[in-house]
Amino acid sequence: MPDYTIIEDIRARKVFDSRGNPTVEVEIYTRGGGVGRVSAPAGASTGKWEVIAYPPGGVDEALKILKDEIAPRLIGMDSEKQEEIDAILKEIDGSPRLSHIGGNTAYAISIANALAAASSYDLPLFMYLGGRNARYMPYPVGNILGGGKHAGAGCPDIQEFLSIPLGAKNFMEAAQANILAHKNLRNILERENIPFFGGKGDEGAWAPAVSDDKAFEYVAEAIEKTSDEIGFEVRFGVDVASSSFWREEEDVYFYKHGGKKLTTGEQIDFIVDKIKSYRLIYVEDPLHEEDFEGFRELTSKVRGCFIVGDDLFVTNIERLKKGVSLGAANALIIKPNQVGTISDTIATVEYAHENLYTTVFSHRSGETESVVLAHLAVGLRCPFVKLGVVGGERIAKINELIRIEEYLGSEARMAKVRFR
Ligand code: PGA
Ligand code: ZN
Repeated sequence: MPDYTIIEDIRARKVFDSRGNPTVEVEIYTRGGGVGRVSAPAGASTGKWEVIAYPPGGVDEALKILKDEIAPRLIGMDSEKQEEIDAILKEIDGSPRLSHIGGNTAYAISIANALAAASSYDLPLFMYLGGRNARYMPYPVGNILGGGKHAGAGCPDIQEFLSIPLGAKNFMEAAQANILAHKNLRNILERENIPFFGGKGDEGAWAPAVSDDKAFEYVAEAIEKTSDEIGFEVRFGVDVASSSFWREEEDVYFYKHGGKKLTTGEQIDFIVDKIKSYRLIYVEDPLHEEDFEGFRELTSKVRGCFIVGDDLFVTNIERLKKGVSLGAANALIIKPNQVGTISDTIATVEYAHENLYTTVFSHRSGETESVVLAHLAVGLRCPFVKLGVVGGERIAKINELIRIEEYLGSEARMAKVRFR
């Protein structure tokens, strides 16, 4: 039927994310009975160059704009024309960083639209987006110990200590490895005489009051034990999220543990030392979000480690182009609500892959039960997916990847991992 994918109705409402903050949820219905429902996530350590999440009046104002200005323009359009729909969102917004309609409004509409189109054909979103090529399962990057802006004041300055099950033969095994690493780490933390009462940060990682150096030791032990028990290679990574503790006026990284201040050169040496000592395979945002030159220097100094830009690139193709031209980083985080629409997200992912930058599709610290992230990671062929290890809103996405792997059956493969 020709009008199967025409948008018939758009509904939206306020719901809550995993931190209990209000967020926007959008539903799009097509004439062929397709439905797409998406709610937007939210960051805590948001990048300076991300789009603006909401208009000044928050979710309520976003919902009003959606009803009065956006829905009337989109109803009657073809949901398959994703780029046209995304262009209209940007045109209605009219600002450089989506501050009129809100980046989260754009995100929810854009992805709900893709879902509605897929659902009109009875296709899972990952297949609608990626076709026959969408059969590579991403390696899950699992946050097992957390600090920074995701946890309490006594926790490490470094935001995330990550388990990466690189030796897994399938996604199920990979997910099991991260869960085991999380459990093993709990036992190690309980054995030590530290203030630890089972508390977790926003993403479900353990949040003990320990220094960064101690956190490195405990996590290394947990990961080694996990590798031994599960029988394949599990590697160690970190998200430093260093913009959170970079002091612009002094141009230093301030670690509240030990009260140490590191200059850019010292920060690079500190990171290189950790990469060597712990065979880190992944270091995200080791330098602050304006320091392309520092990223270039660090990237040139290490081999066999992903230097990942999150706040540096904010899923923005122009910022990525600058990084590629300099050789700053060799991998990047993909978070669609940093940039707003799925079309812009796809453009950034494709540009990254053409330039051999490795993509890591990622959750936000504030998440909802929405599982679209799992589909986008497979559909866009990202070799890694960062989505936490435990907690309802995290496990929902892991379980959806398990379903995708089952759906693919013997066609499923683990992603190919290579360094630029
Ligand atoms: P977020 O941070 O709080 O902005 O979601 C997650 C991250 O830095 O990767
Ligand atoms: Zn990050």
